[in-house]
Amino acid sequence: MDERLFQAAVDGFRAHFGYDPALLVRAPGRVNLLGEHTDYNEGFVLPVAVDRAAWVAASPRPDSTVRLVALDMGTEATFPLDPIPPRQGDWADYPRGVAWALAGAGFSLAGMDAVLTSDVPIGAGLSSSAAVEVAFAWTWKELSGLPLERTELALLCQRAENEYVGVRCGIMDQMASVWGRAGHALLLDCRTLAVETVPIPPGVAIVVADTLVRRELAASEYNRRRQECEEAVQILADYIPGTRALRDVSLEDLDRFGGHLPPTLLRRARHVVRSNIRVLWAVAAFRAGDLAAVGKAMKYSHLSLRDDYQVSSPELDTLAEAAWEVPGCWGARLTGAGFGGCIVALVAEEAVPELARHLEEVYQARFGRRPTVTVCRASDGAQSVKRAT
Ligand code: GLA
Repeated sequence: MDERLFQAAVDGFRAHFGYDPALLVRAPGRVNLLGEHTDYNEGFVLPVAVDRAAWVAASPRPDSTVRLVALDMGTEATFPLDPIPPRQGDWADYPRGVAWALAGAGFSLAGMDAVLTSDVPIGAGLSSSAAVEVAFAWTWKELSGLPLERTELALLCQRAENEYVGVRCGIMDQMASVWGRAGHALLLDCRTLAVETVPIPPGVAIVVADTLVRRELAASEYNRRRQECEEAVQILADYIPGTRALRDVSLEDLDRFGGHLPPTLLRRARHVVRSNIRVLWAVAAFRAGDLAAVGKAMKYSHLSLRDDYQVSSPELDTLAEAAWEVPGCWGARLTGAGFGGCIVALVAEEAVPELARHLEEVYQARFGRRPTVTVCRASDGAQSVKRAT
């Protein structure tokens, strides 16, 4: 898969620009095992960078023009760096937004010729946009020699998405894309931005099943959930001194003071507070090799996303419930923001064919189409792959 994209990026660059790229960059998407909608509440998440990635082949230009080609869409975009134009509502908002965030942080950027190709499915909850942002930020870091640490780079990509593109995402996706490690999940503390690697035991497969449903309203619903969490914090802070985020609220706090919240806000807060506990509990279980406990946490996470956070859908519920029925599958849940997209399942390697068969059969019977079922491997984070000569 990677070989194919590497070659496609090189060939595409040559075909469009008529010379060889100086640099190839790969930045992965991610699948999140646990801790959903906790990142912007300064909580804990457990993502895995996957073997699906955005690739950029690039060369610097002597002027301050950026010429881009999206190979998969067959579209081109050209923009100046001085000044960077405002948001246009197209795919190039991601690289433009990244340039805007880097320039805003005081970095001076090289113009470039670049092509982009990616096999992270768009809108599936696997962070296709973060992969593109990180790939371009990494490209500029290399081409312009920017002294950027991984976490700093992730934060600037998040700023691009929050302030330039206009989606108020948390920090999980960009951190997973920069810090990914082959064979490992990542425990991220989204308050301190500390990263710990958690080995995935041998014999464990991570399966992603895509409902193929994409929701138009995902971005506005996402922003609304975030707003609701902020409202809950404002109310709870009157009763629990020092509360800055839902991260600061314990289960006991919620039992005592949750009654002051309107019912919808109580549900949202309950999801976040319990999710943070589940992530830490599951990491301990992972390290102890107790996959049944991890799976149980995944199942409760799905129920909480369905009932309290209300971001599931009949398609996601059907796939998760079907996965729970398969022997050898420890757990499954929707992954990413929700509203459509994918479920993730943790399953014994030998049970993968049966899981795939069952998911396809159940989904086909109910919705008349086959979900895409793939095994994902935990992969390394953003990197320059090779300087072409
Ligand atoms: C999207 C956002 C992340 C995170 C998840 C939900 O992927 O980009 O920051 O909030 O949704 O957990």
